[in-house]
Amino acid sequence: MGEFRDLVFPSGFLWGCAVAAHQVEGNNTNNNWWKWEQEGHTLDLSGIACDHYNRYEEDLDIAKKLSLNTFRTSVEWSRIEPKEGVWSDKEIKHYRRVLEAMRERGLTPMITLHHFTDPLWFAEKGGWEKPESIDIFARFVRKVVEELGDLIPFYNTINEPMVYVVLGYAFGVFPPGERDIIKALTVAKHLLLAHAKAYRVIHEACKEKGYPKPKVGVVHNMMVFEPLDPNDEKHVNEANTSDAIYNRWFLESIHAGAVQPPAGQGEEVEELKGAWDFIGLNYYTRNICISSPDPTRRFNVVPMDAELTDMHYEVYPEGLYKLLVSLKKYGKPVYITENGIATSNDRQRCRFILRHIAEAHRAMREGVDLKGYIYWSLIDNFEWNEGFSKRFGIVEVDYKTLKRTPRESAYMYAEIAGKNKVTSGLMQKYLGRK
Ligand code: GAL
Repeated sequence: MGEFRDLVFPSGFLWGCAVAAHQVEGNNTNNNWWKWEQEGHTLDLSGIACDHYNRYEEDLDIAKKLSLNTFRTSVEWSRIEPKEGVWSDKEIKHYRRVLEAMRERGLTPMITLHHFTDPLWFAEKGGWEKPESIDIFARFVRKVVEELGDLIPFYNTINEPMVYVVLGYAFGVFPPGERDIIKALTVAKHLLLAHAKAYRVIHEACKEKGYPKPKVGVVHNMMVFEPLDPNDEKHVNEANTSDAIYNRWFLESIHAGAVQPPAGQGEEVEELKGAWDFIGLNYYTRNICISSPDPTRRFNVVPMDAELTDMHYEVYPEGLYKLLVSLKKYGKPVYITENGIATSNDRQRCRFILRHIAEAHRAMREGVDLKGYIYWSLIDNFEWNEGFSKRFGIVEVDYKTLKRTPRESAYMYAEIAGKNKVTSGLMQKYLGRK
């Protein structure tokens, strides 16, 4: 008797990879991240990145060859609206070609409208700190939907709003580099309301244009928070507070149709009610909670014996299971919109992928309505402050020649996607006792 059994997925299950415009396209010179890089905050400058802007066909060919059936990417706001209220037809045409290229290859497009980057003009006006940001973003969303919506079945409104808030406004390590809790809560609220408004605008615009009804969801980063010492009240409080704010606040506010504390007082907002067709879960790791006056020190604490990634994250597949089960209460379909590992050891990546997919399958067996798994990332790319030093791709990018080379993990993942199952043989090969 073998140790493993085949894990079969339902037909129509989505298997894909994700990228985001700024991290792969190159030359996104007109957004706040480009500026942040020039100011010296990042290990590298994004420069031409993976030159995906010009090489998207090659990358999509690879995704197709790997038997994937979906591709998650973002449209770059600063390209489409380079100045406030001015639209670039050239860039809109570019994204139309990208979308067509996906569809020609049997890759269902999942399109993120905001993935961390803001146009410079928007950031210079105060960005998401200003209440006007909600309508300004909605105008951009309407334009994208009107121009491209005939080709987009899945929208992600805002990628990881809580990461944007925490890293940009609490820890000050992402632009605009603020450490101001009042501003952080204001921005969180505006992102929530912008999500809700975008949800309405997308559905309205599709209806007006007679486009097929898309599915619109939020993409939310969640971590498992656990106290280092379960008997230390401070550690327990830290874990509970992090869970309540980082993991739950955004979801609970949509679920309740009301802005929950601490960024609101429970005030109802009509647009928030039912403003999601699915939940996108981005899962990477667990965070062990301690108490420290410096909030940045409270992140990235790992158990002594933990298996680590090159980001110094703990590999903790059970966390994916736990979080998926915790989403059941919202009664919405779930997609794993990101799950991935930075490592220079591709065998570690193979094991990471298999163990996380196995935990996802376990959650499905317990009734979680999981509809897809999207690995971050197809290709190595610009990892924000970490520059090009961290390699998440199942496909290696040689940054000198820009040559793409699929790693062993790419072929392993292709086998899963192609068969729509993880065979016991595959698990024996990578996870079996040696
Ligand atoms: C996510 C983010 C991605 C990517 C990934 C790996 O938080 O959405 O852009 O950088 O993390 O760290």
